[in-house]
Amino acid sequence: MNRTVLACNWKMNLTLDAIERLIVSADRAYRKKDDRLEVIFFPSYTALRSVHDMLALSKIQLGAQDVFWEKEGSYTGAVSPRMLVEAGCQYVFLGHSERRKHFGETNEMVNKKVHASLAHGLTPIICVGETFEQRENGSKDAVIMEQVQEALCGVKEFERLLIAYEPVWVIGRGQAIEPSEAAESMTTLSYTLRDLYAEDFIRDRVQLLYGGSVDPLNIRGFVDQSTIDGVLVGGASMDEAKLFAMIETCA
Ligand code: PGA
Repeated sequence: MNRTVLACNWKMNLTLDAIERLIVSADRAYRKKDDRLEVIFFPSYTALRSVHDMLALSKIQLGAQDVFWEKEGSYTGAVSPRMLVEAGCQYVFLGHSERRKHFGETNEMVNKKVHASLAHGLTPIICVGETFEQRENGSKDAVIMEQVQEALCGVKEFERLLIAYEPVWVIGRGQAIEPSEAAESMTTLSYTLRDLYAEDFIRDRVQLLYGGSVDPLNIRGFVDQSTIDGVLVGGASMDEAKLFAMIETCA
């Protein structure tokens, strides 16, 4: 449970050719380090099965960027947890800020997705974070506490769960926040979790990640923080050289 996590969010990007090149490069760095680091790739739905096959000889793991909560039925365009498991996924992002912003996702919807994912053996990575306005008006802590509390409403048992703190206003900006500031939010999240679960349960089963403009130059500052268990990387994880460098540094 104490390997550093490097979760790579490719969003709505990358063709299979480009993914194949990334995998070759990442795997070269990762093979030497996989006892200290856990790398997870999150391609788009349509690439999941192919990426799963490309990773057959690799220890890199696979996740999806979202899921719907129903098992099956008349939900055109939606993908169920069981379908993700069938495609070879172990992980799923839930409540990413881009889902909240562009697709109207609420904490209540995230909560349904958490329940459905856990019921099918997927490990959720719940994304939380404040907007710039919320940071400016001093409601950052209240916002992320509420996102966590509502996402985990009624969730009593789980093997493993990750929470990614991503200040919305630095995602894709090329300028992250200071690692010490990220660490403060991790403390807020830890207190929130301690209201919900026993301390040793959290220690064994929950990991906290930082996300938002992580790159090869700043990654060490985040993973060196004792309260940060890994990072969620978007843009920089789609560049072969940067991904290689981050794997080398992280481990
Ligand atoms: P970024 O994206 O690393 O490009 O800021 C992070 C994310 O969206 O999760």
